[in-house]
Amino acid sequence: MRIAIPRERTALESRVALVPESVSKLVKAGAEVVVERQAGNNASFSDDQYAAAGATIAADYPSCVSGAHLICKVQPPSADETAAIPEGAAVICYLQPAVFPDAIQRLNGRKASALALELVPRITRAQSMDVLSSQATVSGYRAVLLGASALGRLMPMLSTAAGTLAPAKVFVLGAGVAGLQAVATARRLGAIVSGFDVRPAAREQILSLGAQVLKVEGADAEGAGGYAREQSAEQAQKTQDTITAHVAQMDLVITTAAIPGKKAPVLLTEAAVRGMKPGAVIVDLAAETGGNVVGTKAGETVEINGVKILGPVNVPSQAAFHASQMLSRNIQTLLAHLTASDGTLNLDANDEITGAMLVCQNGTVRV
Ligand code: NAI
Repeated sequence: MRIAIPRERTALESRVALVPESVSKLVKAGAEVVVERQAGNNASFSDDQYAAAGATIAADYPSCVSGAHLICKVQPPSADETAAIPEGAAVICYLQPAVFPDAIQRLNGRKASALALELVPRITRAQSMDVLSSQATVSGYRAVLLGASALGRLMPMLSTAAGTLAPAKVFVLGAGVAGLQAVATARRLGAIVSGFDVRPAAREQILSLGAQVLKVEGADAEGAGGYAREQSAEQAQKTQDTITAHVAQMDLVITTAAIPGKKAPVLLTEAAVRGMKPGAVIVDLAAETGGNVVGTKAGETVEINGVKILGPVNVPSQAAFHASQMLSRNIQTLLAHLTASDGTLNLDANDEITGAMLVCQNGTVRV
């Protein structure tokens, strides 16, 4: 099997789909790997490292994908990139069918089999292929650092000859993978941390990290598959009122709340933001899906009444080395799942994992 790893051309995308360590394993398993020149540069993986891992370095995109059976990317291929993909090849990347329907139609037009990384089922068997979790881990960690950098305060309590500094108060709203990593990171920096989630299991996890849980009566809203579901309007109002009172005391608020397939829930109203202390910072990790905060602008920092709202996009790319390393391990495990004993790809739509991720195959769009 010939696997192509092109250089990412999308703005702000610094990751690479497969790192040299994975390439080495794939080559040892019998694959031929072609890496486009400088594909790993932005994630600190050099062409020399890829060559040492057994890959061939291609001078440009067309020669990288020429003759490939499988193309591993991070972002969906553009129209030009898709046009150069060999007919019938397989493509693995983020595809977000709801956001990029055109990309899937184009791939389908090339009779490509496309697997969307983010559609990996959240089941135990697929945990090591789960890019949502691996990349959310990076986002949660980075969110705290972004917030800490934007604060005019230090995070830990410090007793110095110049006086005692009070520790920063951090609140994490939404304690899934990213939120729990944010709680742990803020604790490591010495802040006083509290968190909230509508799922009782997530609230227990906040406590197990040594942080406090904001108590909201009747807040449970756990739906299918262990994910959150929408709260009733009355309960959402009650939750919002409690959160509004709590954030007024906070220095840094990190929001990560998401509901699969839906726009992010608005958890901080303008009144809540206006009630916060001047100099406080909000990092809205849901900025790309509409934001948890009224006023969030994706990719920008907005200031309301002295409160900064950061709406970072593609946060995993800000720690591209480790984000790529984890993404690469996820894809490598997925490839082991998809490869038949004779080394060819076996894309069985009836398989629980493959079927969930396969968005088009043999000229048919499946989503
Ligand atoms: P996510 O990115 O979909 O959402 C982030 C968090 O926001 C979730 O914890 C959710 O409960 C919370 N949330 C939603 N609406 C909220 C609201 N109105 N107020 C407060 N919080 C709200 O979640 P993520 O991190 O992708 O994973 C969620 C859960 O999925 C995990 O904690 C776990 O239970 C399950 N999971 C299972 C895996 C597996 O078995 N392979 C792997 C990863 C996650």
